[in-house]
Amino acid sequence: MWPRAVHGPQCWTSICVIKYMLVVQGSIFFMGLLMILGRTPMSVSRISIQTCDQTEGTIPSKWSTFSLLASATYKIVKPRNYTNLESKRFAYMVLGPRRIDIEGLQETIDRDVFWVTFKDKSGDIFSPRATHNGARNALLHYVVNMASHTLNGGYLYYIFMDDDIVLSLRNDGNVNWKPWKQMKNNTFERFEDFLLDFRPAVGYVRFQDNWRQPTDASRSTDLHHDFDECFNAFHKDTLSFLLPYDTHFDYDSWYTGGWIARHHMGMLYHSYRMQCNSLYIDNTIHGGRSDRYKAGYDYAKARDYIKSAIKPTSTMLQKSVLQADSEGKGLQPIGRMPGEPKVKGDHSYLITDEFISSNFIKYHPMIQKIMSWRKTPEVERILHLRTRNESRFIPDSLYTDSPTRFWVPKSKQKSRKTNKHRHSHIRRREWH
Ligand SMILES: *[C@@H]1O[C@H](CO)[C@@H](O)[C@H](O)[C@H]1NC(C)=O
Ligand SMILES: *[C@@H]1O[C@H](CO)[C@@H](O)[C@H](O)[C@H]1NC(C)=O
Ligand SMILES: *[C@@H]1O[C@H](CO)[C@@H](O)[C@H](O)[C@H]1NC(C)=O
Repeated sequence: MWPRAVHGPQCWTSICVIKYMLVVQGSIFFMGLLMILGRTPMSVSRISIQTCDQTEGTIPSKWSTFSLLASATYKIVKPRNYTNLESKRFAYMVLGPRRIDIEGLQETIDRDVFWVTFKDKSGDIFSPRATHNGARNALLHYVVNMASHTLNGGYLYYIFMDDDIVLSLRNDGNVNWKPWKQMKNNTFERFEDFLLDFRPAVGYVRFQDNWRQPTDASRSTDLHHDFDECFNAFHKDTLSFLLPYDTHFDYDSWYTGGWIARHHMGMLYHSYRMQCNSLYIDNTIHGGRSDRYKAGYDYAKARDYIKSAIKPTSTMLQKSVLQADSEGKGLQPIGRMPGEPKVKGDHSYLITDEFISSNFIKYHPMIQKIMSWRKTPEVERILHLRTRNESRFIPDSLYTDSPTRFWVPKSKQKSRKTNKHRHSHIRRREWH
């Protein structure tokens, strides 16, 4: 029922009410039209970028906004120009309060190092108010934008890193994957060698929490679900789905974005998320951010969020979303995962439009954000989503009916044998 017109000095006249209702109806119709056209009138979250002149305090020369991406505003403080340059293969994307020297991490002919800082403007970009995930997304966006201007379409690996990690070599047991004299002795070079030889979808290293990321020193690689985010390398093609981090739950906990990303990895690239056992990270210092971190463990919400984005008919993906409870304990898949880490073959990590539309619900916010990211011109330029001639994407899913607990008994871990032929298909010098 329309509201009835009431006549009186304080009340609207019937004409006013009719006009008012027309405006309301018109707006609803207009919003509906926008939705039909595939735009959403209210952006859920956004990245806005302020490009400043080199000198501080000048008027911003340009603003850009990408709706539906992580909420992060950043300012470019040290612009680079990559137009017409060949791209390197490794982009390190470091997050910290201020830029510091990290031993062994100089730029090389194959490595760029970008910083996002939140305490001062000593990095490449400055993002003082963003959440952890938001700041990473801001830097990712900036680096992808740089990469999209290069001649050969950008980096092979995008490597997120916290400034306060201590990376060291581990030469115990049989963690080498080639003769020791060929193993690199610089930490970051060894990591890059690992990425080139195994081509993981996501690469990471041994961590101080051995209970969370147990390591078998008789092997060069291990496979986990719950690995720490402080040092993760993403193969370029995984940018078609795994990144940017979903910031939907940042209001509640900064852990959840990474938790969601690791579930996506489990659904799509199970055997290709790989730990390098000959490198180790200590991350106990935590320089200047413990006061900022929003911690929470209600992963049940995140689990429902992911599950509700997958079509009910995609049973394999549905089953890959593991159990979680509101305390984040007990049902988390901690420890070594079933299966073996695999060296990448000829298949592509690129998630196609066709794969998304047949397995996910288009209007779900998780999928809308991914689609909106994929449609940005810079992502289009580095992934060539619409012009690349890829065959279907076939997910490598962690498919389990039961159990949903992945604690591997100690005795079982020890009895694992290394397979000498496991890495016989190591590929080199290729750009995919
Ligand atoms: C970047 O470099 C290219 C040539 O390599 C030049 O044409 C372009 O103007 C430069 N852009 C900026 C913003 O300086
Ligand atoms: C690393 O150091 C070891 C022992 O000092 C040496 O034998 C090996 O050749 C070095 N590796 C490289 C790639 O230089
Ligand atoms: C794409 O792949 C199909 C099937 O493999 C092939 O017939 C076609 O020529 C390819 N197109 C391009 C542009 O490479």
